[in-house]
Amino acid sequence: MISLKSWWIGSVLSLLLLSLLVPGTFGWGKDGHHVICEIAQGYLSEDALVGVKQLLPDYAEGELSAICFWADEIRWHYHWSRPLHYVDTPDFRCNYQYCRDCHDSAGHKDMCVTGAIYNYTNQLTSSLDVPDSEIKYNLTEALMFLSHFIGDVHQPLHVGFIGDEGGNTITVRWYRRKTNLHHVWDTMIIESALKTYYNSDLTTMIQAIQQNITNEDISSWENCNGTVCPDPYASESVNLACKFAYRNATPGSTLGDDYFISRLPVVEKRLAQSGIRLAAVLNRIFSSNLPIAKE
Ligand SMILES: *[C@@H]1O[C@H](CO)[C@@H](O)[C@H](O)[C@H]1NC(C)=O
Ligand SMILES: *[C@@H]1O[C@H](CO)[C@@H](O)[C@H](O)[C@H]1NC(C)=O
Ligand SMILES: *[C@@H]1O[C@H](CO)[C@@H](O)[C@H](O)[C@H]1NC(C)=O
Ligand SMILES: *[C@@H]1O[C@H](CO)[C@@H](O)[C@H](O)[C@H]1NC(C)=O
Repeated sequence: MISLKSWWIGSVLSLLLLSLLVPGTFGWGKDGHHVICEIAQGYLSEDALVGVKQLLPDYAEGELSAICFWADEIRWHYHWSRPLHYVDTPDFRCNYQYCRDCHDSAGHKDMCVTGAIYNYTNQLTSSLDVPDSEIKYNLTEALMFLSHFIGDVHQPLHVGFIGDEGGNTITVRWYRRKTNLHHVWDTMIIESALKTYYNSDLTTMIQAIQQNITNEDISSWENCNGTVCPDPYASESVNLACKFAYRNATPGSTLGDDYFISRLPVVEKRLAQSGIRLAAVLNRIFSSNLPIAKE
């Protein structure tokens, strides 16, 4: 039997090794995804709420927000899904094009966050009026992936530059803590906002974001000529990455109050937009499925 101590050292070493090998390009942290999905659930139509609840695993107890971090938790197990969390764009161009950018590092087409959003939306829409025995996909997984990736595509640095891996290789300090720029946008801005403005209470933060959403916001954010529109969301993200995320965040810089106060509104708006747009796509998916068609 190995001693507890050597087990512990072994685990720490292997975790360290893993984190060195694989930079953390994995989307809003747990809090961000929770905020997005809790906002989304409030805007679901009756049909969508029924459809979503049928697909949610039991442990979610009817809450979409319980499964929105799943895609990050299984990223080791489903190794193939790792490139689906982001899309890299050419350095300093500040634009995104599906044909040019949506592929993994080996060049496989469609293996990126916008490709994944189309993929899982299609799996859901193409399966809903099909008898159970003929469904080819795991629709629970499709829902869990879609809910996560709609969030990720709104994180500006998930549509960042290829050369710095969406800010992952840009080492900065967030106040006194050493971290990287990508992580600042996934997690640290939200974490600092919670502490500074929301008494460390996520529910209070969600309410504040919700109260800020106007009917005009909703109608312009929902606008989409098909079932789902990830390409304009990716274009918005890379624009925000250039205007706000990369600006004044050169390698080795220390980011503090100025950066935090000017970027927090961007983060809050992206969280709100993801929530509204996730609800909109789920409402479209589940409204095309009229229950009378099922016999
Ligand atoms: C589409 O979904 C299937 C099933 O999860 C997966 O194997 C495939 O890699 C996905 N492709 C993209 C582009 O998301
Ligand atoms: C669908 O995926 C979920 C989550 O990975 C899994 O728990 C469930 O067993 C899968 N269902 C089928 C029918 O394979
Ligand atoms: C929606 O608009 C985009 C860009 O304007 C276009 O490429 C796409 O074909 C349109 N989709 C539908 C379903 O009309
Ligand atoms: C509310 O909207 C204002 C104006 O756009 C913005 O500055 C602020 O950060 C928003 N607050 C929240 C909690 O979303």
